Amino acid sequence: MTAAYSRLQIALHWLIALLIAAAWFTHDGMGRALHQRIESGASGIEGNTLHVWLGGVVFALILIRLAVRAAQGAPAPVGTPAMQQAAVWGHRLLYVLMLAVPALGAAAWYGGIEDAGEVHELAGNALMIVALGHAAVALWHQYVRRDGTLTRMLRPGA
Ligand code: HEM
Ligand code: HEM
Repeated sequence: MTAAYSRLQIALHWLIALLIAAAWFTHDGMGRALHQRIESGASGIEGNTLHVWLGGVVFALILIRLAVRAAQGAPAPVGTPAMQQAAVWGHRLLYVLMLAVPALGAAAWYGGIEDAGEVHELAGNALMIVALGHAAVALWHQYVRRDGTLTRMLRPGA
């Protein structure tokens, strides 16, 4: 446990949020691209789409982010015990989805596993919904409950 998120943790949080949104908005046509890739027997990284590059960078940054968190720790969640439990499990769910979504995408794209593509779509949409709920809760903390939660993700500790 630490008093605040570090500058690096804050930078990673916002950069990853931006890249996930970008990956989500570039998914158009990926279903068709996947079928063409499987039918033509292509593999490797040549012919990668922007969506695949963005998602791959997200995956690498999440691994770095988890390592930084393990090394530096994170501040304890605020609020009642129930709210703290909700925050801990909500954040765990976000981490699981952030790892699972690109991994499933890669299994479809590089492994040619079409079923993984289906689950990737579902998990990708679930990630966006959970992240939007997470953002709404963060805004509620900041502006309704006024406990400075959003400030923690904007202002680094010493
Ligand atoms: C955080 C990162 C990512 C997000 C949020 C994301 C999101 C999505 C979404 C929402 C779709 C559904 C498209 C549709 O409805 O037709 C999709 C499709 C797809 N994505 Fe991703 N994706 C990510 C990373 C990746 C990565 C890293 C890869 C490959 C290495 C990948 C490969 C694919 C493929 C092949 C499809 C088509 C699946 C199919 O139609 O069966 N994605 N992605
Ligand atoms: C794709 C979008 C996003 C993802 C995947 C995401 C994910 C996460 C995760 C996993 C944490 C926990 C950090 C840790 O303790 O290790 C976190 C913290 C936080 N996020 Fe996000 N986030 C996203 C977007 C946003 C947005 C848009 C906002 C603000 C409107 C926001 C506000 C916060 C705040 C304030 C915290 C700190 C919570 C606390 O101190 O307990 N996030 N985010």
